[in-house]
Amino acid sequence: MAKAKTIFYCKECGFESSKWLGQCPGCKCWDVFVEEPVAKKTSGGTRTTILGNVKPSKLAEISTDETDRVKTGIHEFDRVLGGGIVVGSLVLVGGDPGIGKSTLLLQMCQHLVEGKRDVLYVSGEESLRQIKMRAERLHNYQGDLKLLSETNLNVIEELIRREKPEIVIIDSIQTMFKEEVSSSPGSVGQVREVTSALMHLAKGQGISIFIVGHVTKEGTVAGPRVLEHMVDTVLYFEGDNQASYRMLRAVKNRFGSTNEVGVFEMRSEGLREVSNPSEFMLNGKPEGAFGSVVACSIEGTRPILVEVQALVSQTYYNMPRRTAAGTDYNRVNLLLAVIEKRLGLQLSSCDAYVNVAGGMMIREPALDLSIVTALLSSYKSRVLDSSMIFFGEVGLTGEVRGVNQAEQRVMEAVKMGFKVCVLPEVNVKNLENMPIKLIGIKSIKELMSLM
Ligand code: TYD
Ligand code: MG
Repeated sequence: MAKAKTIFYCKECGFESSKWLGQCPGCKCWDVFVEEPVAKKTSGGTRTTILGNVKPSKLAEISTDETDRVKTGIHEFDRVLGGGIVVGSLVLVGGDPGIGKSTLLLQMCQHLVEGKRDVLYVSGEESLRQIKMRAERLHNYQGDLKLLSETNLNVIEELIRREKPEIVIIDSIQTMFKEEVSSSPGSVGQVREVTSALMHLAKGQGISIFIVGHVTKEGTVAGPRVLEHMVDTVLYFEGDNQASYRMLRAVKNRFGSTNEVGVFEMRSEGLREVSNPSEFMLNGKPEGAFGSVVACSIEGTRPILVEVQALVSQTYYNMPRRTAAGTDYNRVNLLLAVIEKRLGLQLSSCDAYVNVAGGMMIREPALDLSIVTALLSSYKSRVLDSSMIFFGEVGLTGEVRGVNQAEQRVMEAVKMGFKVCVLPEVNVKNLENMPIKLIGIKSIKELMSLM
């Protein structure tokens, strides 16, 4: 009997190889190759019949009318998609298990059905009863939404061809399987075959398909990067499981910008759009406390104000403790060293804790100035005026360097009622007639006089 043919796949990026490799030549990750049977292909012979219908189109004849886009009914979602759902597009919605992907898509379905769209929600994870229970918890419950609980993609394909819905949700890709592929659901081979079948369906039938993909770093489940190049749009739904805010981010978008983010809040009755994230993030900020500073960060194209908190206290250990929540740990250590060297403060005998309140993760260098100010405020036990806001990058010599989109940051501060903005001096030049007091600084030494 002939030996069953197998092939090796990289779990991360889907690189194929006929033999096992220690390091993937595609993504350079180690120990990521898994062995899987070769997918059986249906025998050829259909090629000549297909060619009959194929003819090239002239660029001028192709319609790109913006009204072709279907609005999801969720403003923040439309923004991230680039203005709505493009007909015949394949969208991957990725994120950690339990972050709210199914909830988001079910809410979208309800809005779409309300707008008389024909929508099919296929779940391989939940029973019909469970989906109905979830739908009942979300506010506008729509009885006309079509549901299917199925994991066999051949069946799903048949049904889609017969019913011809406008929009289909596949929740999740890791539970779906094609009969022709012998490996188990969630394996690289299955995920690739299922996605390519869905892609043909989307392009061939003009159906917009949303695929839910759980992101897991380890294990047998295929990495999200296997799918990324096959789909039109990749959205990541992320957030802190402890905090209630969620952020929807476009990582790849063939029909729009990847700079857009949508902000949501998870409530007991589902996800709610947050149209003013700054207000949301500053909610609960203490008045007149040491070590609390408001900063302005840019997420995508949106300025968001956040509160940066720092606590500096005498250490009781040989090695001072340092933590950073919501920002880069190494960056905080670097800033502590800059303060120690340039301002001559004895921080090596102090523990230092830095936290970006609200559970948001910000890695932008424009946050530096607020971190330094918060650390100084806590160390010196000086309270800052609560109408002040800070942004700017801090270099190794203690210089305050310019940042991008300064005007948008300042305008957001104005919108939120701040009176004074401390920013890099180079940025002040380009800002004229701002309805807020601007204090341009060149070095962190100048911060001391502000406290
Ligand atoms: P879910 O959409 O099932 O996550 P995913 O599909 O990404 O795995 O969301 C699950 C979490 O959301 C769950 O922990 C409960 C919470 N949740 C709410 O807080 N409010 C709600 O109205 C719903 C439906 C879920
Ligand atoms: Mg789910």
